[in-house]
Amino acid sequence: ERLRALLQAAPKAELHIHIEGSLEPELIFQLAQRNGVALAHPSVDALRAAYAFTDLQSFLDIYYAGASVLLQEADFFDMAWAYFLRAQADNVVHAELFFDPQTHTERGVDIGVVIAGLHRACQQAQAQLGISASLILCFLRHLDEASAIATLNAAMPYRDQFIGVGLDSSERGHPPEKFARVFAQAKAAGLRLVAHAGEEGPPAYIESALDVLQVERIDHGVRCTDSPALVQRLAASRMPLTVCPLSNVKLCVHPTMADHNLPALLAAGLCAMVNSDDPAYFGGYLNTNLLATFDALPQLGVAEAWALLHNSFTASFATKAQQAAWV
Ligand code: HPA
Ligand code: ZN
Repeated sequence: ERLRALLQAAPKAELHIHIEGSLEPELIFQLAQRNGVALAHPSVDALRAAYAFTDLQSFLDIYYAGASVLLQEADFFDMAWAYFLRAQADNVVHAELFFDPQTHTERGVDIGVVIAGLHRACQQAQAQLGISASLILCFLRHLDEASAIATLNAAMPYRDQFIGVGLDSSERGHPPEKFARVFAQAKAAGLRLVAHAGEEGPPAYIESALDVLQVERIDHGVRCTDSPALVQRLAASRMPLTVCPLSNVKLCVHPTMADHNLPALLAAGLCAMVNSDDPAYFGGYLNTNLLATFDALPQLGVAEAWALLHNSFTASFATKAQQAAWV
């Protein structure tokens, strides 16, 4: 009980949250009505009942359908602001938000509208909630390289409103090396680099994210334990893994929370921390993830809690001076 209280009260950073994955069913229906968008489900309860996933793709299909209600600048602001209020309740003091511009530009929404709404929410989070917040633009890996390059080029007029690029969506069959050139272009523009790898995909995808894309963090990465040599490399370099426990259980990466390999990752000396991924779809925000993880895994104690929280700050893209105020 003392450990649960400590986990809840501790200041923490969130490094793996898709802002479109924070869109709660109630807000989906509100925005659908506001924008005159038709939905496939008749009610909030019916929509929530459809949240039964068997793998990553079964989730993505519903996640992209949910995002179809986002059209105006205010929609993107409202979504992100709702997240920040929940983050504040969990004592999140720093958040790096993924967003998926192609999900919106493919529907005719201007990328400037997407970034303006999200960035305004980030600024208000700092001003009103004391949460430092920044944006990471993710490329959809099921789309082609040309679309990713066009997206980065379209975002460059707003270069000062996001800090980095990432890679998400359907992992299997879409290895990191497909995006070598757009990541090189982003790096040349001074952007920070991350990529989803080793969620459903093999250790080889983690290796090519590091060697070909030159990422600074691996999102998920839990399948690294299929390769002892890779685990050793990740430990030696203290490469951060942004682990998302409830997501991994809901998408059947691990059968139950008691089977999650987070204790093994920490025992191997990896720089892992806990994140919420798509909290509106996977059953909860950051503190819910932390409590569910510690409840199911008695190997995790106060030392592991401290390590996870500490790693969340040191793996962040906040400046060293900012980090010094937290750790
Ligand atoms: N994996 C890949 N793509 C995603 C995810 C995820 O967990 N969440 C939102 N897009
Ligand atoms: Zn993710």
